[in-house]
Order: sequence, then C-alpha cells, then structure tokens
Amino acid sequence: MLSLHGLCCTSWLVIAAAVVSAQKTFNQRPGLKTECLGNVMRLTADKLLASGSQLEIEAVNGSKVVPLTPALAAKCGYSVESDPWGNAKFSASLLSCFIQNQGDHVFDIRLRLRLFGNKVSEEDVTEVTHSCEFKQWASREILCERNFMEISVNRLPPEISLLEQMQDTNGDSLTQVPTSIHNIWKMVFYTPKEKPMMLRDVEKAGYGVKTTPTRLVVRSPYNMADTYTQNVDGVQMEVLSVTTYFKRGWSVTLIDTTAACPTGGLLFTDNIITWYMPRYIPTVMDQEHRILELYMGINGKRLDPAHMNAMGYTLSLTDSHIIISLPVGGPDGYYKSHALSYEYHTTYSIEPMLELLWKEGMSDVTRYKVHYPITTPPKPQPPQITDNTVAELGFFNMLLGTFLHDVELINITSSTGVMTLAEANVRGFNVQQHGFSNGSKAFTIQVPFSDPVVLKATIDQETTTYTLPLIFGLVILPEYTPFSHPALLEITVQDVTPPTVRGNCDDENFYVTVTYGNQGKNFNVMVGGKDLFTDLYAEYSVHENATHLSMTVPFLANEVTFELAHQSSIRARLHALLWDPVNNWHLKNFSLACSFPLTMTECFSNGTMTALAVKVESASRMNPSQLTLNDPSCKPTFSNGRFAYFYFDASSCGTTRTFYDDVMMYQNEISVGGRNSIALKDAVQPDYHMVVSCYYMLNDTQMVTFFTNPRRHEPFAESGVGKLHVRMRLAKDSSYNTFYMEDDYPVVKYLTAPLYFEVDLIQSTDPRLELVLENCWATVDGDSTMSWDLIVNGCENPDDSHRTTFQPVAFGELIQYPLHTKRFEVKMFTFVKDDMVLRDQIFVNCEAVICDIKQPDAICRGQCLSQNVGTNTKVRRGTAKQLHRRHISSGKIVLSSFRSELK
Ligand SMILES: *[C@@H]1O[C@H](CO)[C@@H](O)[C@H](O)[C@H]1NC(C)=O
Ligand SMILES: *[C@@H]1O[C@H](CO)[C@@H](O)[C@H](O)[C@H]1NC(C)=O
Ligand SMILES: *[C@@H]1O[C@H](CO)[C@@H](O)[C@H](O)[C@H]1NC(C)=O
Ligand SMILES: *[C@@H]1O[C@H](CO)[C@@H](O)[C@H](O)[C@H]1NC(C)=O
Ligand SMILES: *[C@@H]1O[C@H](CO)[C@@H](O)[C@H](O)[C@H]1NC(C)=O
Ligand SMILES: *[C@@H]1O[C@H](CO)[C@@H](O)[C@H](O)[C@H]1NC(C)=O
Ligand SMILES: *[C@@H]1O[C@H](CO)[C@@H](O)[C@H](O)[C@H]1NC(C)=O
Repeated sequence: MLSLHGLCCTSWLVIAAAVVSAQKTFNQRPGLKTECLGNVMRLTADKLLASGSQLEIEAVNGSKVVPLTPALAAKCGYSVESDPWGNAKFSASLLSCFIQNQGDHVFDIRLRLRLFGNKVSEEDVTEVTHSCEFKQWASREILCERNFMEISVNRLPPEISLLEQMQDTNGDSLTQVPTSIHNIWKMVFYTPKEKPMMLRDVEKAGYGVKTTPTRLVVRSPYNMADTYTQNVDGVQMEVLSVTTYFKRGWSVTLIDTTAACPTGGLLFTDNIITWYMPRYIPTVMDQEHRILELYMGINGKRLDPAHMNAMGYTLSLTDSHIIISLPVGGPDGYYKSHALSYEYHTTYSIEPMLELLWKEGMSDVTRYKVHYPITTPPKPQPPQITDNTVAELGFFNMLLGTFLHDVELINITSSTGVMTLAEANVRGFNVQQHGFSNGSKAFTIQVPFSDPVVLKATIDQETTTYTLPLIFGLVILPEYTPFSHPALLEITVQDVTPPTVRGNCDDENFYVTVTYGNQGKNFNVMVGGKDLFTDLYAEYSVHENATHLSMTVPFLANEVTFELAHQSSIRARLHALLWDPVNNWHLKNFSLACSFPLTMTECFSNGTMTALAVKVESASRMNPSQLTLNDPSCKPTFSNGRFAYFYFDASSCGTTRTFYDDVMMYQNEISVGGRNSIALKDAVQPDYHMVVSCYYMLNDTQMVTFFTNPRRHEPFAESGVGKLHVRMRLAKDSSYNTFYMEDDYPVVKYLTAPLYFEVDLIQSTDPRLELVLENCWATVDGDSTMSWDLIVNGCENPDDSHRTTFQPVAFGELIQYPLHTKRFEVKMFTFVKDDMVLRDQIFVNCEAVICDIKQPDAICRGQCLSQNVGTNTKVRRGTAKQLHRRHISSGKIVLSSFRSELK
C-alpha cells in the first residue's frame, strides 16, 4: 500500500494557529511543555499561535542564535510539526547539533521561539531551556524521525578511548587531542554502490556527522542522493549505510553504521490504519537476533496496554511482521480539511511510535525507534445540503455541512453577486454557524422567498415555485485554501391568490371592479377581444390604485353582447377575461348580464311607428343594414353593425292591421330581405324576424305589443304603450268651425237653439279607420237614472219626435280624414214634455266604435247602415258586438228659457 510519509499539512517552521499569549519567558508561558522521552526531547506548544501568526524556532549555540531552516533541522536532528489547532510539536534528538552534551549523560537544550504577528511590532520571543538526562544508551541507536534518519554507535576506536582515560588521569598535560570528528579521514556511502566522500563534502551535502564523548553520530534526511530504498517483506524502507574511516597516525579504524527507516507499509480502510513493519530488516539486523523489548507509542511516548486497549490500538507480531493497527478518528490524532481540485476532503493524521530492542551475539544491543507520522488518503466528504424549508414560514431553511472545525464560510454567491456573511446577514439571510460536540460544524442559512435572489415561477394559477441557487465560498484554515459548494433549493407553494372580479349595473353602465390577488396586477383584461389597457382605457374610464382596478362600461359599448331584446329594455352581457400575459393563462372569466331600459318600439297616436332592431346573440351573423320591413323597400333609416332603426307609418311598408275585441293592432315584421324574400331565407342569411306590433286600445291608454322572433323557440313578447284619442266637442254653430273649449263649460243654451256635437278620432292618420257612433244619449247628471236616447245602434232615435240628425262631414282644411269624424245635431225640444223643461242641465254621452272599413261588420257597416239593411231585425242597444268601443261625454250643458241671457 501507499506510503504517505511526508504528506504533511504545514510547511516547516511556519505555523499559523489559534491562540496567542504574549509572555516573554518560558516559565510564565502557559501551554509550553518539555519532556524527555528517552533519547529524544519533545517540546509541545499548545495553541500557541494565533491565526495569521508565524512561529520561527532558533537554536542557541553559545552566544550565537542559529535559525533552524528545514534543511538545517533535518541535518541537525530537529523536527517540528503543527496541527490545525495551532499545536506545535518540536522534537530534538539528544544527539542533535546544538545540545550541550555533558558526558553523554546530561543534555542541555536552549531554543528561542519567535512569534510573528500580523504586525512586525508584535514580535514575541520566548526562550526555552531544558535539561534531559539519559544514560541507557544502547550500543547502537537507530532513530527514524519524520524528517531524518539517525544512527549512533558507541564504537569509537579503542586507542582513542585509551587516550581519553589518560587525559582523565593526567589532566591536560598530554599534547594529544581526543579522537574527534577531526580524525575522520573519509566516509563511504553505499547505495549500495560505494561512494567515498571527504568529511567536508559529507557535511556540505547535508548529512550530519558528529562525535560525542563516546559515540559516533551519523544523520541523513530522507531522499538523499546517497541513501537508497529497499523493499523488505513488502515494506518500502529507506536505507542509510555509511562506513566511517578514522585515521590516527598510521592506524585507520572503520566503523559501519546503517539505518533503515520505513517509508511504506501502510494499509488504509475507512476505519482502520494498519502499519506493517518487517520483523527482520537484513541491512540492520543479524539473522541471529533476539528481540528483547517491543513498545508501541503515540507522539513519541510509550503506551501501556490499558491505554492501548482503551484506544483500540493493537500491536502484534507475526513471523514476518510487526503489525500496529489504529482506528481512524481516535483522539490521539486529528482530522484536517483539504480542498483537492476545489472539492472538500478530509484526512486523519496520527503519529505512532514503534520502539524495538534486540540483541545480537553476546552484548550488542540495538535500540530501533520509529516516529511514524501517518496521514490517511484524502477522503472526499462532499458537503450535504439539508433542506429544512417549511413552506408556510415563507423562507428557505437549509443546513450546510458537516465540516471540520478548520473550515470557515466566507462568502455566498447568489444570482445577484457575491456577498460576505456580514452582508448576507444584513440583507436578511440568517446565516449561523453551529458547532457539534465532536468539533465538527455546520451552517444554517435562511433566505426569505421574497428576496430578489430567489427565482419565482408561477406553475399554475395557484402555485409558485421558488428556486434558490447559491454557491457557498469556504476556506480551510490556516492556509486559507478556498473551495466552494453549490446549493439549489426548490419548493412549490400554493400561495397565489388570484384576482377577483365583481360588478353591478345601473340604467346605463356596467361597473366592474377587479381586486388584485397577492400577485398584484399580473394580468391583462380582455373585453370582447380587445385589450382593456391599450384599447379601452379611456372609453371605459379605467381607474387603478395599488389594489384595485375599476371600469365603467356603457351598455351600448361595442364589446357588450345583447342577449335579448324586450319591448322597453335590453338584456346585455359584459364578458371580461383576466389573462396572465406571461404564462398565457386565463385567470378569471367574468360575466355580468343586466337589463337596461331601451325603447324598442314607439307607437304614436298619429300612426307613426318606430322600431329598433337589435343584433342579439342568437343572430350574431345578421347584418342590420340588410333588414327591412314587410315591404323590402322599407329600409332602416339608420343602421350600424348592431342596430337598425325603422321609422314608418302605420299605413305604409306593408303594415297589417287587425281588430280584436278591445284592441286594434298594427303589425309589421323586420327581417332580412322582407317577408316574401324566399330566396334570401333559404340562403345562409340568419333567420331573423322581429315582429313590431302596436296595439291601440280604445281608451286613453293603448297597449302596444312588440316581439321579435329571431329563433323559433325563443319567444319574445312584451307590451308597450301608445295613445289613441277620441274627442267629443260642442260646436258653436252648424258651421262646425268653432267649438266650446273646456273653460266654457257649463255651456248655457236656449231651448230653441239646437246643439251641434262633433265626435272625432284625433291624431290618427290611418285612412282605413272609421269612427262610428253607436249610441248617444243625454243624461241629467253624471249618473243615468234619467236618460234620453239620441242615437241608437248607430241611427237617429226614431222614437224621438225631434229627431237628432247627422250632419255630413266633408274633406276640408280641418278634416283630413272625414271618416274619423261624426257630427250630429240635437234639438232641444227633446228635453221638453208638455212644454215643461224636464231638467235645466244635461250631459250628452256617446259610445264610439272604431271600425276597419275593409271589414264592415255589424255596426261597422257605416253610420246608420245596419238599420237600413233590415228594419225588422233591429239590433237592440247593448246587444251589438262591443267593438273597440269608447265612451265619451260632453261637459255640462245648461238649458235656459231666457234668450236675453244668451251671449
Ligand atoms: C557552535 O558554536 C561553536 C563555537 O562557537 C562552533 O565551533 C560550532 O561550529 C557551532 N556549531 C554550528 C553547527 O554552527
Ligand atoms: C460530528 O458530529 C456530527 C453531528 O453529530 C456528525 O454529522 C459528523 O459526522 C461528526 N463528525 C465526525 C468527524 O465524526
Ligand atoms: C468567495 O469565496 C471563494 C471560496 O473561498 C473564493 O474563491 C472567492 O474568491 C470568494 N469571492 C470573493 C469575491 O471574495
Ligand atoms: C383602491 O380602489 C378601491 C376601489 O376602487 C378602494 O376600495 C380602495 O380603498 C382603494 N385603495 C386605495 C389604497 O386607495
Ligand atoms: C374562460 O373562458 C374561455 C373561453 O370562453 C376558456 O377557454 C377558459 O378556459 C375559461 N377560463 C376559466 C378560468 O374559466
Ligand atoms: C306623429 O307624431 C310623432 C310624435 O309626436 C312625430 O314625431 C311625427 O312626426 C308624427 N308623424 C306625422 C306623420 O305627423
Ligand atoms: C283603457 O283600457 C285598459 C285595458 O282595459 C284599462 O286598463 C285602462 O284603465 C283604460 N284606461 C282608461 C283611461 O279608461
């Protein structure tokens, strides 16, 4: 399996982290801890660093301060590492360059930690000194650190040791110097090819070489030109193999040093890290070795079995391997976020330690110690968007997560641009961070549906779909590595209130009010195929405000449909369509039908008739200009697309006249092409018929009936009113030129003077009518307890010795229709009996009948003609057919015997 050695997260010595305090000395600085862990000293700085600050570590060599660059650290035996919390781990081999070594027993270290804030002035220097005691040196010590391999042996040449002893006993008197690094003649590296190098070149190449009072120390960073890799039982190892030549006078001593450090041997599953170490490493072990001790540790510290159990760590031995397994996610390691190809990943890092002591031959013991930093392969952890939106609340509610603690949400990109979190919150997004107990975090974001970044689409007339596309901009601390995550939320809500329409009418107009729904004015209004706003705005007096729209539509407007026409009213319907122009939806159909007063037919007493033909819904293809009366030459006096107006005389245009008991009816019919236009009726022309009738009744009120008949099954029959007048007047003399007026009554007359009465049908111009006086009689007063017959059954009363006589009526200036007028003369002696005036005042009454001269029947044969036909079949008064009879009376006439009182 892959080795991830070196896939560490931070660059050497430059660490940014979380908390800083500014004390100047080590003793006062909390969070700093130094430990001696065998042949290693470890310094941990807990959350030492504030975000954005940097740590630099310097070694103190006497009075000089030496900055530890990565290369110098690897060469000299130092290593440093930080985690995302800002915890720094520093370790130094006790055999490292700048440690004060007192007889290979006591080791004093001095370090300076320099913290750089964002501002140079905030520089903060802490000096750390520590002493470690370590006496249990094995003959050979192999240390595999994260950045270097180190081997030390206690096999300095014996003569040198002897000199040392002499020095000890004899003080400084000897001129010979101890065996030291200066006695090294050359070094030979095996890769495995031999490569000899002079000490100067070895140091220049980046290797560390050192002698202590008893030991030779050789150190190499990984991946050097003179190291090589080897596969040992499936585990990749890096090998440093050097022979050092000491020369003293003529004597040369050779010391072999070999270190082999693992760079592979890792197997990862989602939950377990397994680290395989070869049990037998040929380059550093004798076949005949005996394992004395075996430890597992974490962060350089040995663990006891109880702690290992608790953490789920195992250390086991097979024939070929030493196997350590560690669960992913344990508290000894840490998670870290990564943005690989701009996508979110996490890794887990832990640094186990393996320490092994073995014996070869009688006394040669080797301590083999590996600090092995392991980081799992980056695992994609696509952030999840959890949509917690509740439609009724009116906002999107989402959870974005989970992330490790080292992720920050920086900005949000919406359809309108990028905003920072602060800007988003000001805008009304509610962005909050939530921490979990395991250190993870998530973010909640709430965005009102009404925010302009939310896209709205109306799905149907009641439903809206809200869509929220967002991109979250995040960074990973402390490196500020950016990555992003998109979110697309969508919800469909039944939240549309459509507009409502209501209306009413008066005698002239429809009044329509539209109340907007909660979408405002999102509609157009169509009336009769026209757009209200573009075509009819002024005509309909449209008024608008924020919530309503009102219009006033005259019932005669072109867009109004006529349903039915009655005698004196018309039923009209307004249809309006509320229409969504964006989605092309019909939001509302509105229909309102009302009856409006409209005179369709007028019947004048003089026989003039008018008729208005209306194009009603059921005759929608009718062309009013083609309508005529029965006589096709009688065309409308006015017509347009919807109306035809006829003005004609009762005696013209094929008007028929019918007598009924009490009424006389003129009738005509409006149709296309006239009554007899068979050809037209068969053609595509609509079957439009409108019958116009005027009923004249023989009293002061004449009913007129009117009906149209556009379709067989749609009866239209309504009554109208017209007037026909019969008048009785008393003439001043037989010339019938002057008459007594209303104001002249009571008229005073002498007994000797005859009375000249005239009864006429006024105003009518119909020459086919004749007024016949059926009966006339005189009474004493309003009631008729006493009466004298003057005319009986149309003739002069034959029983009267002073016979009433009819006077001829001739055409003249005042008489246009002689048949409309009857005159008779009454002798006053009629009212005298035995020379006694019966009463001194009378009223004269008549029953007049209007006759059709074309249907001479009974009394209508003519004035006094019936009697002439058969005297022996005298029709008794009251038994004659009561035809169109009109009762009229004269005013009071006073009879006087004294002529002198006459005017
Ligand atoms: C440490 O200081 C001593 C004496 O000042 C010097 O000889 C030695 O070279 C220095 N070591 C390094 C690694 O600079
Ligand atoms: C931390 O807790 C949250 C919420 O319980 C969970 O979703 C997340 O997976 C946990 N993270 C880790 C690394 O265990
Ligand atoms: C928003 O955040 C992303 C990811 O962190 C980053 O790449 C981008 O530059 C940021 N945009 C702005 C305008 O700050
Ligand atoms: C808008 O007009 C309607 C009727 O047309 C009226 O009832 C309403 O009060 C008006 N609203 C405003 C804000 O003027
Ligand atoms: C309104 O009427 C038109 C035709 O008259 C019809 O197509 C439409 O579906 C109707 N719309 C509604 C909402 O009733
Ligand atoms: C009949 O009377 C009407 C109403 O008074 C008048 O308009 C019309 O001209 C008259 N017709 C004739 C023929 O006199
Ligand atoms: C005329 O006749 C109608 C119908 O019979 C009647 O209702 C009305 O009262 C009469 N008018 C007069 C003035 O007599």
